[in-house]
Amino acid sequence: MNTLFQSPVAPLLERLHREAEGQQFPGFVPTSDYRETYQHLGQCFLAVDPDLGRLLYTLVRTRKPQLVVEFGTSFGLSTIYLAAAVRDNGFGRVIGSEFVEAKAAQAARNLKEAGLADLVEIRSGDALQTLAGLQPDFLLLDGAKNLYLPILRLLGLQPGALVLADNINMRDLLGDYLEHVRNPANGFTSTTLGEAELSAYL
Ligand SMILES: C[S@@+](CC[C@H](N)C(=O)[O-])C[C@H]1O[C@@H](n2cnc3c(N)ncnc32)[C@H](O)[C@@H]1O
Repeated sequence: MNTLFQSPVAPLLERLHREAEGQQFPGFVPTSDYRETYQHLGQCFLAVDPDLGRLLYTLVRTRKPQLVVEFGTSFGLSTIYLAAAVRDNGFGRVIGSEFVEAKAAQAARNLKEAGLADLVEIRSGDALQTLAGLQPDFLLLDGAKNLYLPILRLLGLQPGALVLADNINMRDLLGDYLEHVRNPANGFTSTTLGEAELSAYL
């Protein structure tokens, strides 16, 4: 059996998903500036659902990356799926990013409870600074939607890297990103899976 279906990860994920689903979303969300938006959502999970979580686990198990980078960690649900796969691969590490400090601290506690803290570094602060120059072979984009393309550009993606971008239904904020990864001239082969875009940098 893999780490995902065993204690402590399985019961922890079940509890965190239950909390996330039961959460009230604040009515008014300021949208003009991403810092304001996400500070306002500072108590909200905004987490991947279990299906997407298992997809992340499966992709990391099969791609077997050395370095997984996550833009937008929140309370660390997606990070748990990524790190569980790294644990089962037997090598690799995960670098997460979160600018709401209390969320980064809670994510670190959740990863400790999951028994995965030794595989994960969560960088507190704006990912535009904290992730610059990293060279991942697996990337999850789940932070501020208008920053997907700038974040992609400040990383040195490894050839063969996989990039999963969540919430691509937010077209007004993501048009430039989708145009970029869907253009083969930029080195990507890209496909849409529900609300996610999966792109390989070949
Ligand atoms: C959709 S949530 C991430 C959910 C998480 N991946 C999960 O599945 O549990 C987006 C998170 O990205 C964070 N965020 C947004 N823009 C960011 C930035 N520029 N740098 C760091 N964190 C950012 C927000 O504070 C928010 O917690």
